[in-house]
Amino acid sequence: MLQPELNERLSRVGKGTPAGELYRRYWLPVAAAAELDENPVKPVRILGEDLVLYRSEAGELGLVARKCPHRGASLAYGFPDGPGLRCAYHGWLFDGTGSCLEQPNQEPASPRLRERASITGYPVRELAGLIFAYLGEGPAPALPLLDLFTLEENDTQFRDIGSAIIPCNWLQIMENSFDPTHVEWLHGKYFNYTLERAGEEPTELAGHHIKIGFDLVDYGIIKRRLREGQTEESEDWRTGHPVYFPHILKVGGYGLQSLQIRVPVDDTNTLHFWYCWFDVEEKFSHLVQQVRQLPDIYDVKLQNDDGTFRMDTIDSQDAMVWVTQGPIASRHDENLSSSDQGIALFRTLLRKQLDANEADEPVMNVYDPATESNVIELPMERKELGFGGASKGNPVSAFLRTQSLYSPRLTALSKLIDAEAEQASRVPS
Ligand code: FES
Ligand SMILES: [Fe+2]
Repeated sequence: MLQPELNERLSRVGKGTPAGELYRRYWLPVAAAAELDENPVKPVRILGEDLVLYRSEAGELGLVARKCPHRGASLAYGFPDGPGLRCAYHGWLFDGTGSCLEQPNQEPASPRLRERASITGYPVRELAGLIFAYLGEGPAPALPLLDLFTLEENDTQFRDIGSAIIPCNWLQIMENSFDPTHVEWLHGKYFNYTLERAGEEPTELAGHHIKIGFDLVDYGIIKRRLREGQTEESEDWRTGHPVYFPHILKVGGYGLQSLQIRVPVDDTNTLHFWYCWFDVEEKFSHLVQQVRQLPDIYDVKLQNDDGTFRMDTIDSQDAMVWVTQGPIASRHDENLSSSDQGIALFRTLLRKQLDANEADEPVMNVYDPATESNVIELPMERKELGFGGASKGNPVSAFLRTQSLYSPRLTALSKLIDAEAEQASRVPS
């Protein structure tokens, strides 16, 4: 249970709020790079700030305030020109630092007016298919090279990036990452209940949790679980999987490694990325070559047209429990049980980091700009999936019960694998 005041302190992300200032210490992904291929100008809202992301004609990325300082039109309708972004209304031109470079119809030119017209501009960097921005004060820290950001695509290994805006506060999404037992219920018994009602085959249920464990490590928290039928030698118990503080969960298994990255849009909306790497057997490499021609980005649909949540993917089930807790979960009326020990640990860690940030003390995962090429290995058990693992003949079909159902690359690969199996079964022996 949290008193409302503390709940506000932990959850709100506007400028000047404790958690908002903490988030402003990190490089945050604000879009997938391929999103700018079709339209080089994209409005984004991050930490309650309305901004525009663009790629200039010179190929440089910029992230600037959305409101034009001339007469307030939206720069989301601006267009890239030379070194920057030009407002559609009267053509004022801004660069990535937010400096106004030109005011075309101002005669004679007024350096003072031009200076007054500078807007907010934030540093932006592209890494591994994502565009990261730093919304904080002062020099940006080093951009952490999480292990998956260093992988290269090849004939058996490929990437895709799903995204969605989740209409709730970021903290309840993160808290779910410290809640191992929900896998047994939400993605297990409840999933089977909904499948049965839809007349579909139930999934294989993972065993009941016997114990759960959480380890504080230098980049966050590792969560571990031991289920009926497992021994303490199992990867689930020995290795587990991590949360990289404050906003990234690494999860996967059976050839999938993924980062679930949560970036607050504002207090009551969260931009969620599913940054996925698939590694399939060599015998499917000819099919991987085909699907790599397809887009590597996709929108994830979590709700039906009537606003109810889809219950046929792990990730829409998760979104249902995140969002139905309310725009910002009211934690004064909760009743935490022993299965919530990871949530309590994360709240304590978050409180400590908020305190440290306010006291100008070092904060977890904020790196000295000089440590640029630091690769951060995040350990993860290799078989965990929580819904029975991958099916035998088609090693990627089980992923279609996740948000990957919307991935052009993965759905195509699954179909191609099935088609080949079907053809092989027709060949007389
Ligand atoms: S409102 Fe943007 S140039 Fe006039
Ligand atoms: Fe879940």
